[in-house]
Amino acid sequence: MRNQLFRTRITEMLGIRHPILCGGMGPSVSDASYVAAVVNAGGMGFVVAAGFSDLDEFREQLRRCRSLTSGKGFGVNLYLSGQANAAERLRQQMRILAEEEVLCVETSGGSPEEVLPALREAGIKVLHKVPAVRYARSAARLGVDAVIVVGNDCGGHPGTYGISSMVQAAHAPKEVSIPVVIGGGIGAGRQLAATLMMGADAILMGSRMLVAEELWIHRQYKERLVQSDGTESIIVKNGLRQHHRVLNNDSAKAVAALDAAGASDFESYRPHVMGTLTTHAYKTGDSHQGMLDCGPSIVFANAVQSVEAIFDSVLDDARHAMRRLEDLRCNW
Ligand SMILES: Cc1cc2nc3c(=O)[nH]c(=O)nc-3n(C[C@H](O)[C@H](O)[C@H](O)COP(=O)(O)O)c2cc1C
Repeated sequence: MRNQLFRTRITEMLGIRHPILCGGMGPSVSDASYVAAVVNAGGMGFVVAAGFSDLDEFREQLRRCRSLTSGKGFGVNLYLSGQANAAERLRQQMRILAEEEVLCVETSGGSPEEVLPALREAGIKVLHKVPAVRYARSAARLGVDAVIVVGNDCGGHPGTYGISSMVQAAHAPKEVSIPVVIGGGIGAGRQLAATLMMGADAILMGSRMLVAEELWIHRQYKERLVQSDGTESIIVKNGLRQHHRVLNNDSAKAVAALDAAGASDFESYRPHVMGTLTTHAYKTGDSHQGMLDCGPSIVFANAVQSVEAIFDSVLDDARHAMRRLEDLRCNW
């Protein structure tokens, strides 16, 4: 593992060596084995609570993660749908987080207002993920511990405003006083260096990590991603206002056609967006169908590697970028 290169409010808050967070990847892509590998490599990862419909299995994942990390702190991704019928489920998940002494959560989806008191009571740090600085401001006012601001490049849900990560990175740290993490399109160390220079406290990566050896998804899919030139993602489901950046496969093309035709009813979309297609693709490596979250930062993945090897290359590249800037300095 590389030495600590950067000390930021996020490394201090989470007790991690590197300012590198790996966002939760559903449905159950980021499981205990992967999250433990991220934590053991000096970053912070998040087990996706929604990926485990069986709560005993979810608890088991958390215990496994704790054992694989020899008791180091790790995180959970909590999706806040805001829907009344999901409230009981969320309460049960939060009870397990408290009982299993989870260190932090990456919340995404709706506002964290409802869940904050219970998480605070349990001593769990809350990092709320948003797709625009305006939401970062309101989350900061509510009292979250940190905000994660993702730009339009991100795999998964970039929100509806289409703001680039470069703009978010320069804007967000000036707008809130709490620690800021920037994600979306990040997969190289020079981006880590640039993000820290712009005032952020850490980066968040998702797509870049899809080639990690420790992920259970089929190796054939990882090998396919290694070949990617970064042009193969597309934002779809605009018709449902659920903008979703995914691999541009047969399902994505069918959904894009529905968007273009002005469809806005879920039933038209359902055959193409069913979660079973996604799980099948991850299990078999056949990526023609399913909504497969992925963004252009996959271009930085040149090999299937361990999480630690990916971190090493990111950190070496960050150091190189810092040196380059030093070399460019004149007349300060
Ligand atoms: C395969 C995959 C699945 C994801 N699933 C979730 C999820 O369940 N919940 C969530 O909040 N974010 C999810 N994300 C988003 C990531 O946590 C992260 O915000 C995003 O990947 C960062 O942008 P990047 O892909 O450009 O690195 C997913 C991303 C990927 C690539």
